[in-house]
Amino acid sequence: MSDVLIAPSILAADMARLGEEVRAVDAAGADWIHLDIMDGHYVPNISFGPDVVKALRPHSRKPFDTHLMISPVDSYLEAFAKAGSDRITVHPEATVHLDRTLQAIRALGKAAGVVLNPATPESAIEYVLDHVDLVLVMTVNPGFGGQRFLTSQLEKIRRIRAMTAGRGIRIQVDGGITPETAPQAIGAGAEVLVAGSAIFGKPDYAAAVEALRGRLVV
Ligand code: DX5
Ligand code: ZN
Repeated sequence: MSDVLIAPSILAADMARLGEEVRAVDAAGADWIHLDIMDGHYVPNISFGPDVVKALRPHSRKPFDTHLMISPVDSYLEAFAKAGSDRITVHPEATVHLDRTLQAIRALGKAAGVVLNPATPESAIEYVLDHVDLVLVMTVNPGFGGQRFLTSQLEKIRRIRAMTAGRGIRIQVDGGITPETAPQAIGAGAEVLVAGSAIFGKPDYAAAVEALRGRLVV
């Protein structure tokens, strides 16, 4: 049995029923709730802000895993921390001083993550590992759900696994994760799978979560 964690991305949920959708994936066995925050500047799409995160907070006790696609990001960290995020993940390109940004997230009492775009090398995190709890490898270009998994990122996941060995840093993947691509990501070293369409696009969320874990569904 795999101990991989599943983090459904509510970007693919019914936006008119977000509270219900969060409760439904919580009941379906989600480990974390993944919140994609897009500013229409760092990425070519707009999603939702801290008020929505705050409104969703009472709907689940699972960790809120907030993926910030905002540039510049620093001035928004506190708002997302106060809104109820447990983990906050930032892109190196969205801050001038990544080391400082990661320390600021931890100073807010939250777990700090770095997310690497497909073209961003793993060397971007080499000198900040002491301040990192999570490394998120994008397996699509950020901005939209429903894109195809980029197998080019598997080698990066393997390299990050080697770089972070023994540090207690979790490796997460995001983008195009399905029951077919999940085993590739897990095989390379991913421990937390983000999935939007592979969960919210299915009628049975619990079965979809278990399928991603690689378990047989009865
Ligand atoms: C993309 C987001 C992802 C996205 C994943 O920028 O970071 O979390 O929602 O969607 P799927 O699983 O549909 O590729
Ligand atoms: Zn995401």
